Amino acid sequence: MIYPIVPYGDPVLRKIAQEIDPEVFDVKQFVADLYETMYEAAGVGLAAPQVGKSIRIFVVDGRPLNDPDEDDGDDFEPDPSLIDFKMAFINPEITATDGGKWAYEEGCLSIPGIRSDVLRPERITINYFDEDGNEFTRDFDGMAARIIQHEYDHLEGKLFTDYMPILKRQILKKRLADITKGNVKVDYRMKFPR
Ligand code: NI
Repeated sequence: MIYPIVPYGDPVLRKIAQEIDPEVFDVKQFVADLYETMYEAAGVGLAAPQVGKSIRIFVVDGRPLNDPDEDDGDDFEPDPSLIDFKMAFINPEITATDGGKWAYEEGCLSIPGIRSDVLRPERITINYFDEDGNEFTRDFDGMAARIIQHEYDHLEGKLFTDYMPILKRQILKKRLADITKGNVKVDYRMKFPR
């Protein structure tokens, strides 16, 4: 099932998401639906709050970023962290960050048409469960660590626009308000307030 994606300004994106009890909640079906929704929108990550559910689950598939055909630059280099980087994170907890902060221009399916540099630490350690209930503690670096941090922020009610310098946020104020109202061109399904 493909969910509509909620836009910037929807209060669910500002909530701290709740841990889920996999005994009660059908994690497998929901994870499958998140993947389907993410692929439909051509995203590399999607968090449950973005489909209106304030629970601690997100999915990632960064592999398309390693496809040279998808890249418009001349100096394309595949990122080793993205090999096999398709997975679901359930009740995740980032327990450590490490390394220097580096900038990359991020976007978000809830904030179509806007991109901005975000500084994030190079490496993370994260504890999480997969959709089969297996628990992992793993280190990630490179683009994989970045995607995880972006999605993890969604569970904490945080958006990449929060990292923008105040001036840039002021300049984009009207465009952000337009996104909230649905005055934005987007080629996947979103759920705007009526
Ligand atoms: Ni996002």
